[in-house]
Amino acid sequence: MAGSPSKVLVTFGTRPEAIKLAPLVKALAGHPRFDMEVCVTAQHRSMLDQVLETFAITPRYDLDLMRPAQTLPDITARMVTGVSGVVRDFKPDWVVVQGDTTTALAAGLAAFYEQASVAHVEAGLRTHEKYSPFPEEINRRLVSCVADLHFAPSKRAKDNLLRENCPESRVSVSGNTIVDALLWVVDRLRCELPLKRALDDRFSFLDPTRRLILITGHRRESFGRPFESMCHALVDIVAQAPDVEILYPVHLNPNVQAPVNAILGGAPAALSRRIHMIAPVDYLTFVYLMNRAQIIITDSGGVQEEAPSLGKPVLVTRENTERPEAVEAGTARLTGTDRDRIFDEAMRLLTDDVHRRSMSFARNPYGDGQACARIVERLDAASGGPRALLEEFAGFTRELTPS
Ligand code: UD1
Ligand code: UDP
Repeated sequence: MAGSPSKVLVTFGTRPEAIKLAPLVKALAGHPRFDMEVCVTAQHRSMLDQVLETFAITPRYDLDLMRPAQTLPDITARMVTGVSGVVRDFKPDWVVVQGDTTTALAAGLAAFYEQASVAHVEAGLRTHEKYSPFPEEINRRLVSCVADLHFAPSKRAKDNLLRENCPESRVSVSGNTIVDALLWVVDRLRCELPLKRALDDRFSFLDPTRRLILITGHRRESFGRPFESMCHALVDIVAQAPDVEILYPVHLNPNVQAPVNAILGGAPAALSRRIHMIAPVDYLTFVYLMNRAQIIITDSGGVQEEAPSLGKPVLVTRENTERPEAVEAGTARLTGTDRDRIFDEAMRLLTDDVHRRSMSFARNPYGDGQACARIVERLDAASGGPRALLEEFAGFTRELTPS
């Protein structure tokens, strides 16, 4: 293989995978040692397209699989079939998958069936709870079974893989690529004044004298009562704190839209002026909003990983997290989905300046913005194929070191 570029198929389907793989796509596209193509399953459609546009990525393969209110068995089956066809067509040496979505699982499985090597980005995160997050915890574990290279975002994630008997020579601590993406956007927002001004205009409906709480939420294990309880907590917060307004770009999943529209949309008129529900926004806009917010309330994995770079305190509406680093660092707190607990934690942040400041320092335990460079370097070194890995990479040391 030496001399000929390595063929890499980068696969993704949802918004967070797209954001996290976009900087890797950029890095591989400009690299003479790689022949890279992008395959999107389009497990998401408009929320994926927003990211493709922001990062100017045109996939060679677009399976266009999203259906309204799709089910896990249905999308999994259609994705395995679809990605297998792409792998047969492109014949990659490596198939890159990201994280824990159905796309990651199905693309990993398709690559395995076609006997292409699998590189797993964001490997090794675990809650050790089968149904939380559902189905992501098991998706991520299954991808580990078929992966030939594991890019762990942190030392803890690497240790999880080693405990599962993953050969150490196949695991490297790269940092999370989301920090690479975030820093690119932060830089644009700082340097491109017209862009910043356009966003200020677009969000001129926000009152600068009020404190902004930014909300996201979409986890399957919270559908139904837990989600309703979170929505009630948000209304309680707005009722209790007259100088607060909340902004919620609402995920397009119908299981999210229904309770949010009913409970937040049905809030009393006196409160609804300070509750803004909007459609999902593009990544540049979301980073701008995170920057404007004083507090973020979310169940999103990606947002938990971004907020520490921006020095924003995060309340995580989950019972557990496979990303405990920010909780340990003190910038995030787990609140679960209980109405009173969310309310109490938010009010504490709003009323206790010392507590809020203690959660507001900017240091990111998830990465340093160099994750893609590490991944590209290692993939390049591995272009002899997975059988060469054990010999070539024992002792590979150029890893993210904890700060
Ligand atoms: C998926 C992932 C989850 C990830 C999340 C990020 C799985 C099982 N779930 O969850 O891990 O954290 O994406 O957001 O892989 N929809 C649209 N337009 C879009 C996107 C979604 O209309 O652009 C609606 C559709 O009705 C779709 C539904 O949302 O059927 C659910 O989408 P799906 O990807 O199955 O689940 P998510 O909850 O988005
Ligand atoms: N995000 C975005 N627009 C929005 C909401 C979120 O671009 O309206 C970004 C956010 O910054 C993060 C990612 O989407 O990078 C998180 O996606 P999501 O919450 O859908 O999935 P998760 O991270 O939970 O898998």
